[in-house]
Amino acid sequence: MRHLMNPMDFSVEELDKLFDLAADIEKNPEKYAHKCAGKKLATCFYEPSTRTRLSFETAMLNLGGSVIGFSDAGSSSASKGESVSDTIRVISCFADICAMRHPKEGAPMVAASRSGIPVINAGDGGHQHPTQTLTDLLTIRSLKGRLNNFTIGLCGDLKFGRTVHSLVDALSRYENVKFVFISPEELRIPGYLREMLWDKAITFKEVIRLEDVMDELDLLYMTRVQRERFFNEEDYVRLKDFYILNKAKMDLAKEDMLVLHPLPRVNEISVEVDDDPRAVYFKQVQYGVYVRMALILTLLELA
Ligand code: NCD
Repeated sequence: MRHLMNPMDFSVEELDKLFDLAADIEKNPEKYAHKCAGKKLATCFYEPSTRTRLSFETAMLNLGGSVIGFSDAGSSSASKGESVSDTIRVISCFADICAMRHPKEGAPMVAASRSGIPVINAGDGGHQHPTQTLTDLLTIRSLKGRLNNFTIGLCGDLKFGRTVHSLVDALSRYENVKFVFISPEELRIPGYLREMLWDKAITFKEVIRLEDVMDELDLLYMTRVQRERFFNEEDYVRLKDFYILNKAKMDLAKEDMLVLHPLPRVNEISVEVDDDPRAVYFKQVQYGVYVRMALILTLLELA
């Protein structure tokens, strides 16, 4: 039985197969409409979510399966003090696969170690968010036609942003991907990622001003400042509007640069950018459903 905790749990070859399957699902959805008939997905969300939970639920419903779960720790037995290990043993009696989001780093991993069903990490604290990364990679592969030979800028909260951590890990395995990290001093990427890139001799630089690097980028991954992970409100307020991508900045970018964002957006992308054909963050959401369908089929060994 396989779980998904980290994008690196799949080899590059396995990811290729997964993305081929997602692309086939996009083209021929009817072929997959009953593949999960009789199967249940449990969504166990101990932390807020709109997209990820509904994307998982839509994915399972599109496959003909059904969904159970909770979207708020307060309405689960966690509020009575139940451990995730116990909860997953119970959920294993009800469902065939589980997507879990938790504010504590590593909680889905603890659950996976006691689980009778595949567990998917749907975001654990400021650590990892592998299915957002699968979404990002499928979006890039579908719209750029490749996952190598580009320069990607990651901008915003690189310290607490789990989508950034997972994406950097995943992209470090592809040829000639260069990274430009754009953040205020306080929100720089964690040291372990910097060391990983050094070890693999991958080219990267860290800058503060987005304007200075806009024309170098093939992809720009914008992120929200993660209010809920700050220790004090004052720091959050000081940093929250540090970056605002607007039309003037987009004018500095390549004509075929893509703007991605895991969403939710707060102020970091002005709504005037939404109509720019290079802004693909809403398209990303649709790719997220295809890739989660492919993932569910793969982990349930129905692919
Ligand atoms: C992200 C998350 O939860 O980490 N959202 C998502 O799942 N698409 C990004 C964020 O909350 O900023």
